[in-house]
Amino acid sequence: MAEPLVDRFQRPLRDLRISVTDRCNFRCTYCMPKEVFGANYAFMERSELLSFEEITRLARIFRGLGVEKVRLTGGEPTLRRDLDILVRMLAEIPGLDLTLTTNGSTLESQAAPLAAAGLKRITVSLDSLDDEVFGKMNDVEFKVARVLAGIEAASAAGLRPVKLNCVVKRSVNLGGVLDLAAHFRGTGHVMRFIEFMDVGNTNGWRMDEVVPSRELIAKIGAAWPIEPVDANYPGEVAERWRFKDGAGEIGFISSVTQAFCRTCNRARLSANGRLFTCLFGVHGTDLRGPARAGVSDAQLAEVVSNAWRARDDRYSELRTAQTAGLPKIEMSFIGG
Ligand code: GTP
Ligand code: 5AD
Ligand code: SF4
Ligand code: SF4
Repeated sequence: MAEPLVDRFQRPLRDLRISVTDRCNFRCTYCMPKEVFGANYAFMERSELLSFEEITRLARIFRGLGVEKVRLTGGEPTLRRDLDILVRMLAEIPGLDLTLTTNGSTLESQAAPLAAAGLKRITVSLDSLDDEVFGKMNDVEFKVARVLAGIEAASAAGLRPVKLNCVVKRSVNLGGVLDLAAHFRGTGHVMRFIEFMDVGNTNGWRMDEVVPSRELIAKIGAAWPIEPVDANYPGEVAERWRFKDGAGEIGFISSVTQAFCRTCNRARLSANGRLFTCLFGVHGTDLRGPARAGVSDAQLAEVVSNAWRARDDRYSELRTAQTAGLPKIEMSFIGG
């Protein structure tokens, strides 16, 4: 490969998250609060969405620029019809680690087809094991048991280890953190706890709802001794720890108290084809327009390279009470 593409702080472009829909069947209070994403919310029209061919073409171009991992996100990616067909198309791109983040609601039936299509790994959001608390986090009637069945289906289909994401809000699900850790200890799956972030403009973020990872590490470490493990790769967002008794690994994502912008190597492509170089971006760069206007792959690669080279994002490092109020793109639009 030619010279790696780096931004103004010498950060390479390695990881691309592709949102395939901005819709979701959950209404997590930290991501798509019901008051905002209600019946009248204007989600994207089908014609606005990138087609599978367009997504695959762009993914190839990003691969050519050094991207090693593609994660499909949303909204809820499994709501996009025929997602397994897209996975099959992306799986043909050599050298790509292909993964997906989902709320697990449809995984019981979709895990096997997705794995057969070439998906390599999966991350499932799971904020509580208690139906009532789970409902308070995602604001819909949905049974935890169905997500757990989805996780098992994913594991059985070979999407191992399954990573679990729990966003912790102090007043809502902090009390269930030990139950989650206990449940997944010894299963080979990796439970990760995430600091509640001020993504979007609408999730009512307050610092006093954020539970710092160091507090969780102390809490979990008091129940079962744990020790830190080296990162799997440069720029990994989760801090890895393991149970000293050999019951496996656990992770902490400290995006608020220990920002990791310095090593941030991720770009995001929204479902309507805009490129964002930060989770907290506002404008984005349109790729769909030029792609539909018939420009060449080389010209599209140039648009992406220019956006990445110009990038100086480090929102989480600069975050203050003031920046929390600035306009930002919604997580459901840009993809977690
Ligand atoms: P793998 O290491 O490949 O398993 O992926 P990952 O750890 O990046 O997993 P995932 O994409 O599920 O990220 C976990 C969570 O970390 C996301 O859902 C976000 O809450 C948070 N996160 C991921 N990337 C960023 C980022 O670039 N900036 C910030 N501030 N938070 C991020
Ligand atoms: N803070 C932290 N993580 C969030 N996610 C969505 N909203 C937030 C937020 N406000 C992440 C979670 C979830 C994934 C889809 O997006 O990790 O599992
Ligand atoms: Fe849906 Fe995931 Fe956002 Fe929850 S976090 S509303 S499951 S997209
Ligand atoms: Fe990267 Fe922006 Fe997240 Fe910092 S805040 S780690 S620059 S996506």
